[in-house]
Amino acid sequence: MLDGKRVLLIIAGGIAAYRSLELIRRLRERGCRVRCVLTRGGAQFVTPLSVAALSEEKVYQDLFSLTDESEMGHIRLSREADIIVVAPASADLIAKMANGHADDLASTALLATDKPVLIAPTMNVQMWAHPAVRRNIATLESWGVQRVGPGSGALACGETGSGRMAEPMEIVTAIETVLAQAMRPRPLAGRRALVTSGPTWEPIDPVRFIANRSSGKQGHAIASALQALGASVTLVSGPTNQPDPAGVAVVNIESAREMLEACLAALPVDVAVFAAAVADWRVDGASDQKIKKTGAPPALQMTENPDILKTIANAGANRPRLVVGFAAETESVEAHAQAKLARKGCDWILANDVSTGTGTFGGDANTLRLITHDGVDAWPTMTKVAAAARLADAIAASLPPTLKAAQ
Ligand code: CTP
Repeated sequence: MLDGKRVLLIIAGGIAAYRSLELIRRLRERGCRVRCVLTRGGAQFVTPLSVAALSEEKVYQDLFSLTDESEMGHIRLSREADIIVVAPASADLIAKMANGHADDLASTALLATDKPVLIAPTMNVQMWAHPAVRRNIATLESWGVQRVGPGSGALACGETGSGRMAEPMEIVTAIETVLAQAMRPRPLAGRRALVTSGPTWEPIDPVRFIANRSSGKQGHAIASALQALGASVTLVSGPTNQPDPAGVAVVNIESAREMLEACLAALPVDVAVFAAAVADWRVDGASDQKIKKTGAPPALQMTENPDILKTIANAGANRPRLVVGFAAETESVEAHAQAKLARKGCDWILANDVSTGTGTFGGDANTLRLITHDGVDAWPTMTKVAAAARLADAIAASLPPTLKAAQ
């Protein structure tokens, strides 16, 4: 599957750079065209001559080289590839990528690309564990940068632990996987989606709040699944422990009112999926100061929160073409869900049983029924990730294809 693919390989500074020479050979054997960028650090470990000889291509090193820029500008260099592979990816280059630096050819090409990027990090075990590196890696992954390795073992610095660059053949396999993903059909390309997820927190005072058991697993999985089909997704999420899904714009909120505001700001969208467990009530006149334990316990006066799904399903010209709600029920699941479909003015409802013992809240599995104006489709029990993929497929099938999806 790699035959004819164009790889831009960025070799950064690291003792593992010599293994990138083998990576070039493995890729060439498979019919890849490999163009290489050698950073200043990389050139301390391998010579431009060996890289050029193995890749059978000119090696690019300097952002400000008149010859290089006139032959092949850095923009073209990064665009005329099917994938950019950074191997080895040093802590320094990872930091530059995560912070948008563009002070050399490698970082500029990475900033200018619209192609999938795969990094094969390598560094000392303590560096890999450092919070700065952890943060930079998390940032890159939230943008959809893919990673292979590092593995564990004896490191060149004499220490042992995580930090070894992945083996060249592991990198080849990772390149195949990333390219296969990039070639998947993207029927939602050009579509905008809004997803809500997680619980809301309703303040009682500055230190206390009312919450619920929603983990955000289902909503986050739906955002990911829609993104994987090519949609441009905004995820409005209450507080959860879920990592931000790669390639999704995440807006973090706490209360139902903040969630509504963020959802309205995300419009217009083609499809909106409301998976959040929004608190139905908030405390009327939450205290600005911590309520002290003097006297009788406070009698909390509750007031109703805005219904986000209902508001957006009735947003007139701004109404998404497809509005999908959830119905969390503990009894008469289907009947309640049917009533909700009508009451809220949405197009589809995914009904689930959240009664004690079903393990839906916080669990990894879900048993859903898709209720539309045409009828009921009972889905078997499956993981929340699988349910999200099934929903995304159903959404894609229900929307007419866009011009972009046909490309
Ligand atoms: N929802 C919402 N805003 C609210 C309450 C609910 O957007 N203030 C959305 C949820 O995200 C879900 C759907 O409405 O998609 C149904 O939520 P659910 O809690 O099942 O229903 P409620 O509207 O709270 O009705 P009831 O309490 O009667 O079951």
